[in-house]
Amino acid sequence: LAVVLPLLVLAYVLGSIPTALWVGRRFYGIDVREHGSGNAGATNTFRVLGKKPGSFVLFIDALKGFVAAYFLPMAMVHLGAIEPEHEVYFRLACGVLAIVGHIYPVFAQFRGGKGVATVLGMMLGVAPVTVSVCILIFITMLLLTRYVSLSSMTAGVAFALLQLLPAFRPPQEFLIYVGFVLAALLVYTHRANIGRLRAGTESRVPLFGRK
Ligand code: G3P
Repeated sequence: LAVVLPLLVLAYVLGSIPTALWVGRRFYGIDVREHGSGNAGATNTFRVLGKKPGSFVLFIDALKGFVAAYFLPMAMVHLGAIEPEHEVYFRLACGVLAIVGHIYPVFAQFRGGKGVATVLGMMLGVAPVTVSVCILIFITMLLLTRYVSLSSMTAGVAFALLQLLPAFRPPQEFLIYVGFVLAALLVYTHRANIGRLRAGTESRVPLFGRK
């Protein structure tokens, strides 16, 4: 417990790094939470600050989930703090804690992002094939609707449903439940977007010159 607990805290602290907020403040003198959708995430960074900072935030936010779900548990096994057969549980625990950190960051008054990039990074470490299919679903939805929020939620729900199919069934059954919990979490963090989608006021991505 003396090693496990600090590493779990580390996963939360890692997820808490408010990339969008720090990039906006440091390089543009802007709090992205006061502009666009008000979200401290990659999408709003793209929207408010442009492609370069947006891509950077997407990469770092995904990396947080990947490092938490992949490297931290590996370190625990190496340190002899956990048994190798328990590693999968810690991968999920650390990944989920990083996502919670991203959404409720200790470094940013607990007002962070919606968790999409961090879920993506975590799941890339846990179920890369299923995630790749979900990325294709995300891109297809985005091309069809130009709503990032709707595409994110669809990809999240698709991830949970895909795991029910034999071809995508995870090795441990409890991973299916984790998929559904994460999908529900994404829908929850997008509740303001759902309101805007219903009201027809959600902003669209300007693709192919279409505003
Ligand atoms: O990155 C989260 C995305 O799905 C929605 O972001 O800024 O449009 O609320 P935003």
